[in-house]
Amino acid sequence: MKIGILGSGSVGKVLGGAFATLGHEVMLGSREPERDDVQDWRKKAGGKTKSGTFADAAKFGDPVVLATAWSGTQNAIALAGPENMKGKVVIDTTNPLDFSGGPGKAPTLAVAGQTSAGERVQQWLPQSRVVKAFNHVGNTHMFRPDFPGGPPDMFICGNDASAKGEVAQLLRAFGWPDPIDLGGIEASRYIEPLAMIWILQYFNTGSGAHAFKLLRK
Ligand SMILES: NC(=O)c1ccc[n+]([C@@H]2O[C@H](COP(=O)([O-])OP(=O)(O)OC[C@H]3O[C@@H](n4cnc5c(N)ncnc54)[C@H](OP(=O)(O)O)[C@@H]3O)[C@@H](O)[C@H]2O)c1
Repeated sequence: MKIGILGSGSVGKVLGGAFATLGHEVMLGSREPERDDVQDWRKKAGGKTKSGTFADAAKFGDPVVLATAWSGTQNAIALAGPENMKGKVVIDTTNPLDFSGGPGKAPTLAVAGQTSAGERVQQWLPQSRVVKAFNHVGNTHMFRPDFPGGPPDMFICGNDASAKGEVAQLLRAFGWPDPIDLGGIEASRYIEPLAMIWILQYFNTGSGAHAFKLLRK
């Protein structure tokens, strides 16, 4: 498959590297695709990796992964061109974090309650099939998570059943055997606050070695 990644932060690089490891062609999109860290990522990830602008990556990929800072997400989508993602699956990893509390302070949610980042992204990409995923685990555990209690669970949501099926299949290849579909994109209202639990635990303990599991009997 051809995967376009919008975002050259930790999430974009980890997911892009994971897709490359699985043999997919990957284009990492950035406002500065020639930047040293992006080129270093390409050398390390090897395989069939490229870098380009947000628009290049949006045109290249299906699916497209959205992995941008919330404050820049609307701009990144505008730069990518919603028309370049028409009909495509867009995997939304974002959390609408507000870091205005300053350095060393846990962020808060800039968007919450009766709406969510997932819903905004779907509004900004009305002709794309947005699926929320990966937002509630640290980037170091996004690919082949290895925990003593077995694989953690990933919650997903989105309006298009076939898009969620495609993302669930990708998740299984990433080491998430049992993705949990919570319904339409509005379920992002609950999956995004779940990420805040992950983040507060990180700020309180200094460790990112945790993930969620839904216990059943
Ligand atoms: N870090 C994690 O472990 C983790 C886990 C789960 C979810 N998330 C979520 O995943 C998303 C990505 O997180 P991250 O830590 O990888 O990176 P990040 O530092 O939050 O975002 C980096 C990306 O955002 C882009 N960006 C920033 N401001 C922009 C603007 N004004 N216009 C256009 N693009 C802009 C950057 O573009 P350039 O390439 O042009 O610099 C870069 O590609 C975030 O929403 C985060 O909350 C993060």
